Amino acid sequence: MNKHRILVVEDDDLMQGMLNDSLSTEEYDVTLASDGLEGLKNIQKTKFDLVLLDIKLPKMNGITLLEKIKKTSAETIVIIMTAFGTVETAVQAMKMGAFDYITKPFLIDELMMIMKKGLELQQLKRENILLRKELQHQYYLGDIIGKSIEMQKIFQLIKIIAPSKSTVLIQGASGTGKELIAKAIHQLSLQKDRPLIKVSCGALPETLIESELFGHEKGAFTNALKLKKGRFELAHQSTIFLDEVDDMKPMIQMRLLRILQERELERVGGTDTIKVDLRIIAASKVDLLTLVNEGKFREDLYYRLNVVPIILPPLHARKGDIPLLVNHFLSNYNTILNKNVELSTEALQRMMNYNWPGNIRELENLIERLVTLSVNNKITTKDLPENLKTNKKWSSDKIKIVVQEVEKEHILKILEQTNWIKKETAKILGITTKSLWEKINKYNIS
Ligand SMILES: Nc1ncnc2c1ncn2[C@@H]1O[C@H](COP(=O)(O)OP(=O)(O)OP(=O)(O)O)[C@@H](O)[C@H]1O
Ligand SMILES: [Mg+2]
Repeated sequence: MNKHRILVVEDDDLMQGMLNDSLSTEEYDVTLASDGLEGLKNIQKTKFDLVLLDIKLPKMNGITLLEKIKKTSAETIVIIMTAFGTVETAVQAMKMGAFDYITKPFLIDELMMIMKKGLELQQLKRENILLRKELQHQYYLGDIIGKSIEMQKIFQLIKIIAPSKSTVLIQGASGTGKELIAKAIHQLSLQKDRPLIKVSCGALPETLIESELFGHEKGAFTNALKLKKGRFELAHQSTIFLDEVDDMKPMIQMRLLRILQERELERVGGTDTIKVDLRIIAASKVDLLTLVNEGKFREDLYYRLNVVPIILPPLHARKGDIPLLVNHFLSNYNTILNKNVELSTEALQRMMNYNWPGNIRELENLIERLVTLSVNNKITTKDLPENLKTNKKWSSDKIKIVVQEVEKEHILKILEQTNWIKKETAKILGITTKSLWEKINKYNIS
């Protein structure tokens, strides 16, 4: 274990020597300073875990030095040593961030107890920061944010299937992030260095779609002045993203089926068969199976596309994602617009309570608008559109509970991964076994 670095700032030789002798143990690495300025120099040079600070010091008094320590290294624990009769100063020091004080003369054991308590608290704080970072990290997959269980499951699935070439069908209402997911899968695939080729099946006019998708030979029709490769050919050894497959015309559905089955195509007006090796990701904003049942989408094509299904729930069904998304878009638009706009807790509550028919796109657009229009760097409930102003179900307590639930889920997940081996779990989480036990008790995990 690393030794704790301790700085003793004390002008009395006898006292300094005594502290040096008793504290220089296996646990502590002691540095000595005899006046305030020397103390300050040490602080600026080295990061100390703990400072034992006399109040009455030559050159710079203890209170001034304390202020500088807290500025340079806020997490350093400071214990004040006061002479009898200066308790008031000690109280002032506590207000300024000292951890505790001890009145001279004192027993060394008494001092050691206080030091130990301080260092334990510091350790806990460090662990918390680590855990929070670890959790934050969990909530991102490329540009996609998601800490709800639903999104976490999707993240896991994406990580597993991305390196393979299996066909993926992404279904979700408008604005739920289908395109983002498609990009993420491509980015995590082995073909990531080649471009992702996108086709909006609904946007292309019927007269153009064939030659867009499959290409044409020179002279295939009146305007075909030269050979053109279609999107499928361009996506060879890469990924093709077929957006809005629900809008695909029956004739195109049939041709697509052939590519899915044979992995080959002919250009319009051509006779040569061209082999293509590619990954297909399709997206639909409506439930495709319903379209199949209504006779609007080929059943055989549906099954060919639905190899790995990803269903994106609407935003109102994953409210746990809202605070992170809001933060993300806020900081995005603050950067873009060179502003520093913040959102009030009440405004966030309203957002958690709203049902977001336009899903994440609607949320993003709203934040962009609010940041753009903000004049005093604050967004409060009165800045929100009418439909968001009503209702108040999510209290800040509720939000806190959501955050705790996430931590609980995360710990549980790692516990399951390690077969409930606490030591290993604690290691992965970057916390001590002791604090893992505390969390297990706190959250009632069993
Ligand atoms: N989980 C997420 N984290 C961060 N940003 C997101 C997330 N989901 C969606 N977005 C953002 O919301 C917007 C809409 O997402 P996207 O275009 O992927 O939705 P879509 O499902 O394809 O919508 P549509 O059906 O209307 O085409 C984009 O700007 C996207 O970056
Ligand atoms: Mg889209």
